Amino acid sequence: MAPNLEPLFSARARLLKASDVRELLKYSQDPTVISFGGGLPSPEAFPVEDLRVIFEELLHEDNTPALQYGPTPGDPLLKNALATMLASRGIPAKADQIIVTHGAQQALELFGRVFLDPGDIAMVTQPTYLGIFTALSIYQPTYHGVPTDNEGILPDVLEENLQALAMDRIQPKFLYIVPTFHNPTGVTTSLRRRRALVDLAAEYEIPIIEDDPYYDVRFEGDPVPPIASLDKEGWVIYLGSFSKVLAPGFRVGFAHGPADLMGKMALAKQGVDLFTNGFGQRVAERYLSLGLMKKHLPRIRKLYRRKRDVMLATMKETWPDNAEWTRPLGGLFLWATVDPTIDTKALLPRAAQKGVIYVAGHGFYAGQPEVNHMRLNFSFPSDPNIRKGIGILGEALREEKGAPPLLVPMAK
Ligand SMILES: Cc1ncc(COP(=O)(O)O)c(C=O)c1O
Repeated sequence: MAPNLEPLFSARARLLKASDVRELLKYSQDPTVISFGGGLPSPEAFPVEDLRVIFEELLHEDNTPALQYGPTPGDPLLKNALATMLASRGIPAKADQIIVTHGAQQALELFGRVFLDPGDIAMVTQPTYLGIFTALSIYQPTYHGVPTDNEGILPDVLEENLQALAMDRIQPKFLYIVPTFHNPTGVTTSLRRRRALVDLAAEYEIPIIEDDPYYDVRFEGDPVPPIASLDKEGWVIYLGSFSKVLAPGFRVGFAHGPADLMGKMALAKQGVDLFTNGFGQRVAERYLSLGLMKKHLPRIRKLYRRKRDVMLATMKETWPDNAEWTRPLGGLFLWATVDPTIDTKALLPRAAQKGVIYVAGHGFYAGQPEVNHMRLNFSFPSDPNIRKGIGILGEALREEKGAPPLLVPMAK
């Protein structure tokens, strides 16, 4: 019999809980289930042929540097390519202001390590990317949610909150925000509000963590400048990732910010993994420097735009009249708001029984959740599955209104 190690676990380990999304991934392995759950890119979006050529090249280089140990802050070649990419987004960057991480997710975890003591305030939007909770909760912050609407975060409310905290002599450690094609809502924070955030950051001396993995996945409208590009004082820390525009399997993301913070993060990272997947870093570098990213992005944008449109059209045709949803101009998700009497977490097992899953809105809130939302991913399912699955969800929503909850045990 395997030994029971549970009593030996640390108090910290007891804080570790599976997120709603990671739990859902097990259903998405089942080919009969249509998943709107994860934030998975479409397999059609992986540039397999280009990658084959790059792999060959990397494997035949003298001393195969792509396979060797590398520096903790990141491969210098990739950091140079990232500095060029950041400059194209209006963010002047030097190599010592960049750290390459195992996905943007690792950067979030490193912020927890370097910023948070138990009880410290981490400000997040309401709703927010739920992976921020997965990354930070082990450091036991107190989350402080700031509301949003269809123009993004509400700076006036943020200011009131910052004022109230300042009166109590409480310094929040940072504000975390996904301003472009927000996960989960798909909403983009307006330029006006971005400027207001920069002013508030400087006034209240609060770092802003701008998580921007969807910047390049825009299929309509003009880009809105990153918050970091508007910031002249260095309060905004900027995160990016290759997961949504190349492939999540390489686990390559990055953070840009003040050199002393990046240095601290590198020290924290050393103890975790020494350095980020060297082969993945070189692939990402080659992909940028050969100009393949530029060629690839229009293909992804076209693909995801079409998928978004299939989803929107099917919702319009098949969903009850009182449901509403966002119409994102990019990214991978939209956010639906259903009849206020429907709890989307309670609906999920019924939907799963019918062969469709999504992420209930609950997990995206710090504190008390709003219960009648769901996040729907349109990048991963095929067009016919989007049509079929959205139709099934429409039917489930009609049945759910006033119907008693099904006694099916929920996945824990
Ligand atoms: C807002 C946001 N941040 C971070 C991540 C994690 O991305 P990565 O694969 O780069 O770790 C995701 C993934 O869905 C995301 O949506």
